[in-house]
Amino acid sequence: MEVVIRQHEQQCGVTAADIVADAVRSGASTLGLATGSSPLSVYRELIRRHRKEGLSFAAAQAFLLDEYVGLPPSHPQSYAHVIRVEFTNHIDIDSGCVHSPNGVADDIFAAAAEYDALIASAGPVDVQLLGIGSNGHIGFNEPGSSLGSRTRVKTLTEQTRHDNARFFANIDEVPRHVITQGLGTICDAKHLVLIAAGGHKAEAIAAAVEGPLTASCPASVLQLHPHVTVVVDEAAASQLKNADFYRYALKHKPAQQKF
Ligand code: GLP
Repeated sequence: MEVVIRQHEQQCGVTAADIVADAVRSGASTLGLATGSSPLSVYRELIRRHRKEGLSFAAAQAFLLDEYVGLPPSHPQSYAHVIRVEFTNHIDIDSGCVHSPNGVADDIFAAAAEYDALIASAGPVDVQLLGIGSNGHIGFNEPGSSLGSRTRVKTLTEQTRHDNARFFANIDEVPRHVITQGLGTICDAKHLVLIAAGGHKAEAIAAAVEGPLTASCPASVLQLHPHVTVVVDEAAASQLKNADFYRYALKHKPAQQKF
């Protein structure tokens, strides 16, 4: 696991965009996308590079991490809608190649299994972007999620519903259930890139990076993955005990070694 500490959120976005852009230019065609606030700086930078530098996603397909149960893709807060508004409508990816779980399927349990199978057949995902919840969740894998879990229906904690209520008119509108890629599904991706900014993420980042491997902090599963880059701003890094070493290692990174 490599921890990259940047001064500000916008610089985190540039670093994560560097990783995605390098991968795409080297032929990576399967991207894993996250929603929420955390990856927005990455998307802004990738859109800029698409417009100004000709970075093309025409050959790419993308898979979202998760979706709310009960929200159709036309709903402004469905992740299928949000990812298009925030990112994919502004680049040259084929909209039909932007996949997400079907949260309004008649059988949401079957829809979850089908989504997992779709990723397995199209994958592996080359680069998977991740945010982190204040309770250490990734995707919508809440504390207690099996570290080997596959895509499935999950119940949100009240904390996550409160955290996400800012996107809805009120908390009662935040769905209780979701379909999320499992931790095992996420870890099938070749390169995981987790982005976090702000002091409200510091505890979760410290637990994920330096805490014990435990289902109580689902993001700690990253410790088992062979290729992880954690990109954090100073505030999100503020509870990392080994922060000085991460800075030292980055400063002395071998010139040829990529993220
Ligand atoms: C949401 C999403 C996650 C996201 C996390 C943090 O509930 N399901 O994919 O990473 O919570 O959100 P934010 O980046 O807005 O803080």
